[in-house]
Amino acid sequence: MPKVTDIVTLREGNTPLLRLNRVDGRAYVKFEGANPTGSFKDRGMTIGVSIARSIGSRYVIVASTGNTAASVAAYAARGGLTCLVVIPRGGIARGKLAQAILHGAMVVEVEGNFDKALSLVLDTLNRIGQRNIMYPLNSINVWRLEGQKTTAFEIFLDIGVPDYVIVPVGNAGNIYAIWKGFKELRELGIIDKLPRMIGVQAEGASPIARAWRLGLDKPLFMDSPSTVASAIRIGRPVNWFRAWRAVKESGGTFVTVSDDEILHAQRMLGREGIGVEPASAASLAGYVKLLDEGYLRRDDTCVLIATGHGLKDPDTILKLSYESVLVKDAMEIVNLVLSRS
Ligand code: F0G
Repeated sequence: MPKVTDIVTLREGNTPLLRLNRVDGRAYVKFEGANPTGSFKDRGMTIGVSIARSIGSRYVIVASTGNTAASVAAYAARGGLTCLVVIPRGGIARGKLAQAILHGAMVVEVEGNFDKALSLVLDTLNRIGQRNIMYPLNSINVWRLEGQKTTAFEIFLDIGVPDYVIVPVGNAGNIYAIWKGFKELRELGIIDKLPRMIGVQAEGASPIARAWRLGLDKPLFMDSPSTVASAIRIGRPVNWFRAWRAVKESGGTFVTVSDDEILHAQRMLGREGIGVEPASAASLAGYVKLLDEGYLRRDDTCVLIATGHGLKDPDTILKLSYESVLVKDAMEIVNLVLSRS
């Protein structure tokens, strides 16, 4: 690892692990929305941006479905670096775009999806050539994954080693990072058992999960991934082999969930006081599906990674039907309450 002389931090990590009350089973949610910019990306960005600063880069660059952009924008601002975020036009949730703007990122849009944005970033880096000018912070950057593995350490400190950890999968870095964290705890002799890892993808963006389910040995890349969960709308995950290896080694599985199942799970979490964006609800949707299929048992201890905060994507929530009543005076409110009791 490059020598880090300057740590750029917003005090990320130490997020709450919450037992679900209304779900039939031993399920806990690791609420990553409680990170400084509202997603798990902050765990890696503190390391990535610290390295960028220490090697003297002036610029950092990412392609993103939104959360990486929001996170890198904030950490770059904190560290005094210039930040470029390359995003699919119209393809990221508004809260995330607002964050990137708020923190002063240069926003570069492409027509097309995340995969196109990432290939442009890689091409830009090839043309510039020197990392100490422009430092890449996508999850191809292994140091970011070193930060993300701390999720495993925190879970262990809270409840020991669960039977399963269930993770929404997009570019496929995080599930590998969490697995690596548990493996290192075992190598250090701190734990002697490992959890099984379960990766969840949205049906319309499931290059890994679909191939796994079909018994293939590599992904079925998709050119036009589509799902309401914009954070994981990715057709060509660059870290697929890492995720694949993690799931295989751990004895876990991949599963796909529909957009309806994701939105239902998002509402279920909302009703437990836990506000997550659609991609994050995929882990609960996957849990429910695997319970129904009999793959998981109700007494299995499962940790569902809720990767990003609900406020990231208000538009998706407001598109769902909701009840509101326009009143003219207090008596109408009183009557409303009385009619419900
Ligand atoms: N959940 C959320 C909320 C995400 O933002 C992402 C990835 C994932 C899950 C999947 O994690 O890529 O490590 O498998 N978002 C990236 C981004 C791609 O640009 O913000 P992964």
